[in-house]
Amino acid sequence: MSSKFDATPAAAPLRRNSTARSQALFERALEVMPGGSTRATIFMHPHPPYAAHGQGSRIVDVDGNVIVDFTNNFFSAIHGHANPAIVAAVAETAARGISFGLPTEVEVDLAEHICARAPALETIRFSNSGSEAVLSAIKAARAYTGRPAIAKIEGAYHGSYDHVEVSLDSRPGDWGDGAPAGTKYARGTPDAVLGDTVVIPFNDPVAAVRLLEAHGDRLAALLIDPLPSRVGLVPASREFVAAIRETTRRLGIVLVVDEIICFRLSHAGAHPLWDLEPDLVTLGKIIGGGLPIGAVAGRRDIMAMFDVRPGKAAVPHGGTFTANPVTMAAGLASLRQLDAAAYDRLNGLGDRLRRGLADAIGRAGMPAQVTGMGSMFRIHPHDRPVSDYRSSYPTDAEKALMARLHPWLLEAGYLLTPNLSGALSTPMTEADVDGLAETVGEGFAWAARDRAAA
Ligand SMILES: Cc1ncc(COP(=O)(O)O)c(C=O)c1O
Repeated sequence: MSSKFDATPAAAPLRRNSTARSQALFERALEVMPGGSTRATIFMHPHPPYAAHGQGSRIVDVDGNVIVDFTNNFFSAIHGHANPAIVAAVAETAARGISFGLPTEVEVDLAEHICARAPALETIRFSNSGSEAVLSAIKAARAYTGRPAIAKIEGAYHGSYDHVEVSLDSRPGDWGDGAPAGTKYARGTPDAVLGDTVVIPFNDPVAAVRLLEAHGDRLAALLIDPLPSRVGLVPASREFVAAIRETTRRLGIVLVVDEIICFRLSHAGAHPLWDLEPDLVTLGKIIGGGLPIGAVAGRRDIMAMFDVRPGKAAVPHGGTFTANPVTMAAGLASLRQLDAAAYDRLNGLGDRLRRGLADAIGRAGMPAQVTGMGSMFRIHPHDRPVSDYRSSYPTDAEKALMARLHPWLLEAGYLLTPNLSGALSTPMTEADVDGLAETVGEGFAWAARDRAAA
């Protein structure tokens, strides 16, 4: 099939093909699924394009439109789509049986592979999603410390467990002058959840230490993602990381580093880049090669909470599909392709993209900026310095601008997340990232002209 991306992406015209088939599918879906889908995160107005197939960095939707995929299924498909080694591993493994009520060798292989990547990953347990990995880490920390509560960063996303959703979409009206407010995310969340969750501000070591000390005797765990996407995709400062490590150690709080996204930063993951010694690390996304996965790894004595051999584990953890061989084989095939050179190339491409985006935004004369690290980026529709959730929080006008730019970029053939973030995949080229940068610049210029004309 010919597509506009047979030509240079930067020179691509806006997408002209119809979206009629996607629209028809969405109408069918609305009849049988509330809101027309199973995932809140993939909703777009008026409906998303439905994927027909993908290859490398491209998706073709059911109407034949070709889309350069900068979401890679929310940063998980690090080798893009239909990676030959992963497809072969899935097919070969599935042909020998898809899942059993017994363990398989490939589970041991993947566990050994991941644990060999960083000394802090002493032992590991798999699960079927990152959300489940986080929940397991919290349960292990509670069992280990005998304490009920957790602390988390304001605005940080760690999946759909009640406690880690606290403050996820806290708004300016909730902020006040004092400590970050614990706000409910899903309606109906029990009040007790707020009572057992302490929210601390990102990159503010003084306030964070004060709050941890005030609640220390009740805190089982502190969760931190050192490059939290919903907090602006800005890195934790070294000062902040050092302060929370010292304080959690002193107060006996289990430090859980959530690397479900940022494990893609290096061969050993994220924590070594901050010289951070985690107690537990949660993993997911790229370690499953595109299939559902999560994992909790870390200190042998805390991980022993899952050990069934005494008769009953302190934290019983199972799951019908946990560690099924197909997922394990896909994960192994994905990770085996990620040697140090692959990370260097991908991170170099990320640097090039962030530079290109900054240049293009500058040429468009828009107050906007780019954050991110390694193979990840986020475009902010404002130029205020971003250091935490509150400073990255967009005004209503900025939210409206993002809501116009996102579909405009899709129309131009580029898929980003609705908050204008994305991650690279190994099949991407310099032309792909240059094309996105150029097109984002055009998008901002279009938005400025459109606003002036209105
Ligand atoms: C940092 C972080 N933690 C946890 C999760 C939850 O993972 P999953 O969607 O696999 O449940 C995500 C998902 O995006 C994440 O980004």
